[in-house]
Amino acid sequence: MSKKKEDNGVIITYTDDVIKERLGKYGAVYFSADIKESVEDILGNEVKKELLDDFFKALMKYDEFMEQLKNTKLNPNLTVLLYGPPGTGKTSLTRGFAKKYNIPLCVVESDRLVSPLLGDTIKNIRGVVELASEISKDRGAFILFFDEIDAIGSERSNIHEVGEIKRAVISFLQVIDRVNYEGVPLAIFGATNHQHQLDSAIWRRFTFHFRFDFPNYQLRKKIIESFLDKIKDAKIGIDNSIFTNLNSEYDEIQTIHKNLENKLGHKISEFDDDMLWDEITKKHKREGLLKLTYGYSGSDIERGTRVALFKAINAELLTHDIFYNSLRLVGGTAIHVQRQDILSSDRNLARGTRNSKEERKDLPSPPEI
Ligand SMILES: Nc1ncnc2c1ncn2[C@@H]1O[C@H](COP(=O)(O)OP(=O)(O)O)[C@@H](O)[C@H]1O
Ligand SMILES: [Mg+2]
Repeated sequence: MSKKKEDNGVIITYTDDVIKERLGKYGAVYFSADIKESVEDILGNEVKKELLDDFFKALMKYDEFMEQLKNTKLNPNLTVLLYGPPGTGKTSLTRGFAKKYNIPLCVVESDRLVSPLLGDTIKNIRGVVELASEISKDRGAFILFFDEIDAIGSERSNIHEVGEIKRAVISFLQVIDRVNYEGVPLAIFGATNHQHQLDSAIWRRFTFHFRFDFPNYQLRKKIIESFLDKIKDAKIGIDNSIFTNLNSEYDEIQTIHKNLENKLGHKISEFDDDMLWDEITKKHKREGLLKLTYGYSGSDIERGTRVALFKAINAELLTHDIFYNSLRLVGGTAIHVQRQDILSSDRNLARGTRNSKEERKDLPSPPEI
């Protein structure tokens, strides 16, 4: 491992402990062994997973990748923006990839960088990126993950002075540009639940934009089943009616969905507009887990499962009623996010328009990435 000279002449080696200590003031540092989740734990999102896999493979053979890029005269710009509602897997999926490729990761809480003291925000932003850049120069691939990146320079941020917001954004962009120019194997990730408030200059600076959505009923079924499997692994009994009800509800919804698509002559998704759910509510009177969890994130389903566990451990059996009522108790995130926001905002954003619902009808759907 190479030795580095610091400004004040002290020689420093970036051991795991030094990295944890120095970056710790900005956020949580994870090494492979600290990470529990795997890429496979986050279900669905297949297109994103494939692209991220390519991204991480390139990061792992950075020097070779740079050599090839030289001929193209393109800047590598190892930046990824993840956006969408909370609890949809943005952080977990990144952690899963960090584990898979054995790359250390620092999850920066962007709020912590923001200071009411003039100039301090900029100092913090530079500080964290420059430190991560030094580490990656010394140790190889490293990931800096800015959680709630909108905190840096948006109306939501705690920076009250408009000039200061602009300066924070500008310094963030400058420091990213510098990293790219220097050619260090540092990947910069940004995540936000408030993509509409994100300064467009930041938005543009990221090479990849990945949209995370609330899971559709097909994916909710898989997520529910995977959490039930975990309960089974813990040797807690599960009433078989949970599975039979889930399967029959799924089949019914799928039939309604297919019939509706045949009638319309085109594909329709659960979140495109109200049509599918109007039809389901009309034809499918029975209460079920998939209907209940419309607008739930993966994280909501996980919380509901955890609530159910408390009861199931006491009752020694997870019954359908316990599971259903626990999921109902935690509620879905979409209730807290403006409904119109879920249905259309990402779509508008992807097209750079703010069309009304009517105007949007004939536009094609954005790809699922
Ligand atoms: N698609 C998914 N499949 C399985 N579990 C999910 C999924 N999305 C979210 N979760 C669960 O929710 C948890 C929290 O997700 P997280 O990555 O923190 O979301 P975000 O960063 O988007 O707010 C995950 O650890 C996982 O247990
Ligand atoms: Mg997160």
